[in-house]
Amino acid sequence: MRTRTFPVALLLASLSTVSAAETVWLDTLDLSQMTQGWGTPQTNRSIRELPLSIGGRKFERGVGTHATSLARIGLGGGSERFRAFVGVDDNANGAATITFKVMADGRTLWQSGVMKSGDPAREVDVDLRGVNTLLLQVGDAGDGISFDHANWAEARFIVSGARPQIAAVPQEAAVILTPKPGPAPRINGPTVYGCRPGNPFLYRIPTQGERPMTFSVSGMPRGLTLDSAAGIITGAIAERGEYRLTLRAKNRHGRSSRPFKIVCGDTLSLTPSMGWNHWYAHYDRITDAMMREAADILVSSGMADVGYQYVSIDDCWMNAAKQRDPMRVGPLRDERGNILPNKHFPDMKALTDYIHAKGLKAGIYTSPGPRTCAGFAGSHQHEAQDAKQFADWGFDLLKYDWCSYGEIAKGDKSPDALKKPYRLMGDLLKKQNRDILFNLCQYGMGNVWEWGAEVGGQSWRTSGDLGFELNNLFNVALKNAEHRAWSRPGSWNDPDYIQVGYIGNARVGGLPAPCPLTPTEQYSFMSLWCLMASPLFYSGDLTQLDEFTLNVLCNPEVIEVNQDPLGQCARVIELDESTFIMVKDLADGAKAVGLCNRGEMESTVTARWADLGIKGRPRVRDLWRQKDLGRFASEFKTSVARHGVVLVRVK
Ligand code: GLA
Repeated sequence: MRTRTFPVALLLASLSTVSAAETVWLDTLDLSQMTQGWGTPQTNRSIRELPLSIGGRKFERGVGTHATSLARIGLGGGSERFRAFVGVDDNANGAATITFKVMADGRTLWQSGVMKSGDPAREVDVDLRGVNTLLLQVGDAGDGISFDHANWAEARFIVSGARPQIAAVPQEAAVILTPKPGPAPRINGPTVYGCRPGNPFLYRIPTQGERPMTFSVSGMPRGLTLDSAAGIITGAIAERGEYRLTLRAKNRHGRSSRPFKIVCGDTLSLTPSMGWNHWYAHYDRITDAMMREAADILVSSGMADVGYQYVSIDDCWMNAAKQRDPMRVGPLRDERGNILPNKHFPDMKALTDYIHAKGLKAGIYTSPGPRTCAGFAGSHQHEAQDAKQFADWGFDLLKYDWCSYGEIAKGDKSPDALKKPYRLMGDLLKKQNRDILFNLCQYGMGNVWEWGAEVGGQSWRTSGDLGFELNNLFNVALKNAEHRAWSRPGSWNDPDYIQVGYIGNARVGGLPAPCPLTPTEQYSFMSLWCLMASPLFYSGDLTQLDEFTLNVLCNPEVIEVNQDPLGQCARVIELDESTFIMVKDLADGAKAVGLCNRGEMESTVTARWADLGIKGRPRVRDLWRQKDLGRFASEFKTSVARHGVVLVRVK
């Protein structure tokens, strides 16, 4: 009996499923939770709002999107198949390269490989039985998102149960991982520091702990003095050489000491520079008062106590010929050709004095072209005059932003043409009677990492503005880490500023708002920048710092990875399409290891000691939690959240 009835029952069950199945089109779902790198998802038309068209073939319906894009679709096990035709839309304005991927509950069901403009549509037809969460992803094929107009044409689900629904990214609580610093002193900051002979020296010993505190220093070089209450060292060292100091701090709760080597010679920024830059918070609204307030908060928030030091003005401190704010419109230079700050900056020298009095340093910005990126006065044909002016005003860092210099270079992208304006300014800065760090900003043209140091830079942007790419953090980091061979003391790859907490919206110059990153992504941001030995400039709104943001920015054990004196950028070990390891050698023989998951689902990541060049049973310490995890033989394995990095120190 059984052998007869069983197949009949099975047949009936499958018949009823088939008869109940209906087609649900992707374009009928609520697309508001779909994310993408540019624009908003379009129903039955391309991202440019034109008819959907792939490789010359027109489609009546579907969804037009833009890399990098993600639709997270809850299926609840109710769908049987997903079918679509995918490809680059024929009306993308330039050459696009994209990848399509369909993932089910963490498994890749289908992927297109790299698709280019003009390629015929590829057909997707996958079995979804039993699947809970489906991801439709569009990647940028690793070359940035320009022109990446992507179509999911005739995309549809064959549904026999629950209806598919596009879901939001799962909400995450902003968990504070790091224990609060105690009241006893803890001296932080780099253990090695470069300066040039004869120039003003200024160093505020970054120290956490309750004030009042008394500082002392042994081995102080001749020419320097310590303010023992403030912990600020000033003066000038006449003689070149290496000086080994011990920094000490004590208060009623205890004491702390830290070795500190000053190398007085030619190389500045022996560890990556740290500070705050106004750009992503305040754009063209920046004023003298806001810069002073930033210096105040760097100290009052405790950021300066973990090493943040430079307070940097970006664009818009000068005059422009045309600007929405009349206070920023005026003569660009005086009759002798001296650059004129706008009315929001009444006294630059007084501003840097204010910053220096706190033991902090001041940064400024200009362009080698006639105009800056925001259309303000640049330094073209006034380079020597401006370099001297910046030094006379008391600035300690210059960001030099290519922008309108393209007009001068007239399209010449040869290495000599690219180097020329930077070499000119680099030489001028070296001749000033101050140590002025030189940050090259030309978005990576001509492999700037290969020659940035040669023209006098201590750091160089390796890519465009990260403001546009926040949803692509891991790709930016992986690309930046490719230049690791050029990362060393005095020479740093700069993938742009840290944007956590409250930041503006780079596209519209909007007022600061909570940044679009999840809490996990904000921790990842900081972990990756520390593993890569990138300059650490926070560029969010300091007046809206909350406990979570401060926790992300101010963990001294994490920052120590960034400030390690070897200056190494982590090496990347790819594990699979979503997970990878970053491993960085540290000066004391330990390694910093980041277990990274750029995928959309939580994943287990394993760091195998053999791959990392680690022997024996080392101790593993979780740096965000500041917690020893024990000794591990052969590997360390942990679960890593979506877009997360678990950062450990292995010794
Ligand atoms: C460019 C730079 C940014 C910022 C702006 C200012 O876009 O890359 O970092 O300095 O200019 O206009």
